[in-house]
Amino acid sequence: MYNGKARAYTNIALIKYWGKKDKELILPMNNSLSLTLDAFYTETSVSFSPYHTKDSFVLDGQLQDEKATAKVSRFLDIARKKAGVNDFAQVESQNFVPTAAGLASSASGLAALAGACNDALQLGLSEKELSQLARRGSGSACRSVFGGFVEWEKGHSDDTSYAQVVPSDDWEEELAMIFILINDQQKDVSSRDGMERTVATSDFYDGWLETVSRDIQTAKQAIAAKDFQALGEVTEANGLKMHATTLAATPPFTYWSPDSLKAMNKVRQIRQTGLACYFTMDAGPNVKVLCQKKDVSAILAALQEDFTKEQLTCAYAGEGLKSLEMEVAK
Ligand code: ADP
Ligand code: DP6
Ligand code: CO
Repeated sequence: MYNGKARAYTNIALIKYWGKKDKELILPMNNSLSLTLDAFYTETSVSFSPYHTKDSFVLDGQLQDEKATAKVSRFLDIARKKAGVNDFAQVESQNFVPTAAGLASSASGLAALAGACNDALQLGLSEKELSQLARRGSGSACRSVFGGFVEWEKGHSDDTSYAQVVPSDDWEEELAMIFILINDQQKDVSSRDGMERTVATSDFYDGWLETVSRDIQTAKQAIAAKDFQALGEVTEANGLKMHATTLAATPPFTYWSPDSLKAMNKVRQIRQTGLACYFTMDAGPNVKVLCQKKDVSAILAALQEDFTKEQLTCAYAGEGLKSLEMEVAK
């Protein structure tokens, strides 16, 4: 029996990953840049054993169906191949984040699974190699291997596509991200399907791609200069551009709901009162608000005029992937 357990936090992209050049290897069309957060995370344990007769996957205490288990098995196959092991595995995972709701469960979930496999199979992977492995499970997961600001270098092959920390002189410690929960149910269009449809059919996709590398540069310069306004402006603009591409897909779709628009307008209003804050959205209706720690209580108070306390979660910068001790069976 080989056991491993790991925890990974979610990350939210300020400059988005949206589209694959290679679906099998999960090589992205563009670089992306994210902030790892402390409020949402996944803990996963895995045990490989010659006595298991198939792979099984338990998420939040529920044995998962064949389709969900097959997805995990495909990832386990990659880890098994690296280790030269054929044993089946039991995967048990707890998401301290709503699953498939646009809150980046695939990022924390697959990074945690990569970490657990590394430990269980004693792969001895470096952080860079862990990022490459996590990427094979879900693109955004390669960024959750690291804490703070992280850039995923798109690369051109399995070896050259991985994430790394963006030097920031710990500036992220001064920042926060407030989550406005609009809906925690599973989305209709997964991130994977949404980006695939967009790349294949959206007339706006080329426009998106042409401008992302400029946005990455702007974001990195803003981080280096600790210029919050510049980082916020490029974050908000980049997110809006990504969402514009889905409207021009065939068939068209959007992750926005009426309350997402209400939240985005509220953020603009709060900004007009002199509090610096900027929104971004991922593949789901929930809105995330980038702000500075010093303004959190004032911004939360303003958001509470329109949203309930239960809808609001404040996150700060989080750490990277961590190995956990397996509990010893009694
Ligand atoms: P999200 O916005 O939550 O990242 P995605 O559509 O990108 O939504 O991915 C959701 C999928 O990620 C799930 O359907 C499941 O396949 C996978 N996933 C989420 N959490 C876990 C986990 N803890 N372990 C393994 N896979 C997970
Ligand atoms: C909008 O990493 O969830 O959140 O690689 O197919 O698993 P797969 O997709 P995923 O896509 C994330 C898309 C996004 C933007 C981002 O996180 O960069
Ligand atoms: Co995801």
